[in-house]
Amino acid sequence: MTDTLAPVQPAKLIINGQAVDAASGETFTTYNPATEEPICAVARAGPEDVDRAVKAARAAFESGPWPRMRPAERQRILWKLGDLILEHGDEIARLETLDNGKPIFESRQVDLPMVASCFHYFAGWTTKLTGETVPVNPAFFTYTLREPLGVVGAIIPWNFPMIMVGWKAAPALAAGNCVVLKPAAETPLSAVRIGELALEAGVPPGVLNILPGPGSSAGAALVRHAGVDKITFTGSTEVGRQIMRECADTVKKVTLELGGKSPNIVFADADLEAAVRGAYNGIFYGKGEVCAAGSRLLVEKSIHDELLAKLVERTRKLVPADPLDPKTRLGALVNESQMKKVLGYVEAGAGEGAKVAAGGKRQPVNGKGWFVQATVLSDVDNHMRVAQEEIFGPVLTVIPFEGVDDAVAKANDIFYGLAAGLWTRDVKKAHGVARRLQAGTVWVNLYNFYDPGMPFGGTKGSGFGRDLGADSLREYTQTKSVWMNIE
Ligand code: NAI
Ligand code: MG
Repeated sequence: MTDTLAPVQPAKLIINGQAVDAASGETFTTYNPATEEPICAVARAGPEDVDRAVKAARAAFESGPWPRMRPAERQRILWKLGDLILEHGDEIARLETLDNGKPIFESRQVDLPMVASCFHYFAGWTTKLTGETVPVNPAFFTYTLREPLGVVGAIIPWNFPMIMVGWKAAPALAAGNCVVLKPAAETPLSAVRIGELALEAGVPPGVLNILPGPGSSAGAALVRHAGVDKITFTGSTEVGRQIMRECADTVKKVTLELGGKSPNIVFADADLEAAVRGAYNGIFYGKGEVCAAGSRLLVEKSIHDELLAKLVERTRKLVPADPLDPKTRLGALVNESQMKKVLGYVEAGAGEGAKVAAGGKRQPVNGKGWFVQATVLSDVDNHMRVAQEEIFGPVLTVIPFEGVDDAVAKANDIFYGLAAGLWTRDVKKAHGVARRLQAGTVWVNLYNFYDPGMPFGGTKGSGFGRDLGADSLREYTQTKSVWMNIE
């Protein structure tokens, strides 16, 4: 690819319609996990920048045009932003792959169109956020208004940096809110670029502010700021808990998406070839650094050995390679500590009695990078740590079960409840099991499918609130009841 040599310009903060340095003048370096080399310097937002951005967003909300303009005008601007994202698709996808280590195939062909489609989809909602007239008493005219919350703080993770901008900012903006978004320090570049394109699309100053910086300073300051009405967060359970506690002080609304350990259940009557593909894509897409990864493969005993053999054969052919090569399907993990965490789990699993049926090791590409082999752990018991904890890497645990009740019991015997998959040709079984699974999303005879129209989020330890779909607009609006005496 010829454009790989083009240097990446240093990234700034986007505050009040301007690309600016941090108030402190500090920067940090973002690295390419495939080469371990620096990509560029990035302005490092601190509490002072958070304060500037929140004040700009408050001013934009309270006296700027965004919440006051005709919804069709907001629609036009958000639609244009979707178009600009598509027009700059190669550039944004490349930034994402450099920053995160994911294959360019995924950034360009899957993630990028999803971000654009979020802005297009939610553009359509601007003109459809209706209230109701309520028949209370003929003497009154009683109705509800659907209003934005005000300033939304969005704190997003490093695994889907650009997608998370679409999932969080598009519905919040469509509803008329102003947004301060903090990308993860590991992967700030695509969010900053989309922030610039938003200005080009006509999003007014202060309406979408982007603040790359560390969670412990910029993130924490955003959570504590009294000028923020709501925090929407996707990331680790530990930080989610802390954010929820801290939101209490200023009575902020909060929604949390905290990952998972999702079961992918293969019944003996499934189309085996399709189930093997689904199991494989369910764990290896995005290097397994995916909140909804189908990381617990539950397989009915009678087909267990056959399915495992097919899966292992397929897995061994998936080798880590240069993420910028369009043929690559397994990239580098986001950083060294994530790689060590993942390898540590493989070791822990082996220590607990699991068998490493495929992969299990680091495998540098051209002598560099935080690459881990596509890994299958078999002979796993649902109570092992590798079955209960989120590994967040290309590591699949395979767990046998016997019959529907055992499958459901094992699937639900977990702290998390984000997603689940099931594979069967039996329609009754499919609907019955889908109802019994404790998960925000159930995929039947497919896995890892998303659409801006389909709500996504967790139950149990995976958090609460929904991204995407009509449901997400409820998270960014509130109802005002108006009573009018007309007699
Ligand atoms: P993290 O939860 O620390 O990071 C997520 C976001 O929160 C980042 O933008 C970060 O800067 C911010 N943040 C961190 N501390 C904060 C604080 N005190 N206040 C406000 N914001 C804060 O996740 P991390 O450390 O990058 O990854 C650790 C593990 O979390 C991973 O190994 C994985 O298991 C899990 N994870 C799950 C994700 C998901 O999509 N469910 C995404 C990322 C990580
Ligand atoms: Mg990086």
